[in-house]
Amino acid sequence: MRFFVPTDIYVEKDCVKNHAQNLLSVGMRALIMTGHKSAAANGSLNDVTEVLDAGKAMYRVFNEVEENPSTDTLRKAVQAAREFKADFIIGIGGGSAIDAAKAVALLLLNPQLDADDLHQAPSRRLGHAPVVAVPTTCGTGSETTPVAIITNHKIGLKKSIPHVIFPALALVDGKYLASASKQLIVNTAVDALSHMVESVLNVKSNAFNRMFPEYGLKLWGECKDALLTNGDVDASLYEKLMLTSTIAGMSIAHTSTSLPHGMSYDLTLHEGVPHGPAVGFFLAAYTEVCAKFVPDDVEKVFSLLGVKDIGEFTAMLQSLIGTYSVTRKMRDKFAAAMKVNRSKLDLVPGKITAEDIDFIYEKSLAIRP
Ligand SMILES: [Fe+2]
Repeated sequence: MRFFVPTDIYVEKDCVKNHAQNLLSVGMRALIMTGHKSAAANGSLNDVTEVLDAGKAMYRVFNEVEENPSTDTLRKAVQAAREFKADFIIGIGGGSAIDAAKAVALLLLNPQLDADDLHQAPSRRLGHAPVVAVPTTCGTGSETTPVAIITNHKIGLKKSIPHVIFPALALVDGKYLASASKQLIVNTAVDALSHMVESVLNVKSNAFNRMFPEYGLKLWGECKDALLTNGDVDASLYEKLMLTSTIAGMSIAHTSTSLPHGMSYDLTLHEGVPHGPAVGFFLAAYTEVCAKFVPDDVEKVFSLLGVKDIGEFTAMLQSLIGTYSVTRKMRDKFAAAMKVNRSKLDLVPGKITAEDIDFIYEKSLAIRP
């Protein structure tokens, strides 16, 4: 068994200001990577730049990170980082901004590597510039994982890159959820839930790393009524949702995600479905299949969440994210690709069959005429 999370993690209100010295000690010239608007709207960008200004650190803002960051955007960002002579990268936002920051940190120190080469396995482990992560959604967990999910449109691929890039510092503050829509909070919370369920129902699950999802699932269960009820989530839950997401990230830092995440990438790439629901659509059927292999673990997940059985779990997910349909041709194509995706199949805690995979797709995606 091994336990390893090298990121310095702080989770508290006014986290960025409280840990200004930690942030300033990472570097003196930052490329700040964000999406187009949200980091400016929720106050996180202002918190970071105030600390950098007060510490006389220099920065440039690159606010062009799109949902599902592409290799083309990374190429632009690393050029900006080189022109500015950045010595560290700050990612502010959801998984897209933080994952993009990790990839740019790697490209910055490896000029021989083009962004389009990022999915190729390296012959040796490559170094990267330090990364600071400031999450503003309650789903990614990217602030505590070594993973970056990058899209290469030229070859139609959305996948994690095979490089290990843990942030040096994660500053996690629930107050940034205040300007998020209810649906964004729900979508990202479903992503965090999936991280924890896929971590428990995973061949790499062990006594060390199970502490995280088991505690996080209990916290998620305490938030679920607020997520299911109409109306805004009470501000008193922001911190708990953000903590749950960070714990979920620590869970998959040790086990990786499993089939629901592997299945979601096609849905996002080809149908434009946001990440949280794209994963969540597959979660109940994956859990049902895993009940054949690890029934006690499935029972444990349900009891921590406070749901009775697979029927109640399925109904809860449908109430949160609805259902989705694709053409039969597309569903068959997705299933065929998953049947040879060894990197995800090998993480299932049992001998999964082609029929099991068809079952998950059939239960998870309706057929669109
Ligand atoms: Fe995810």
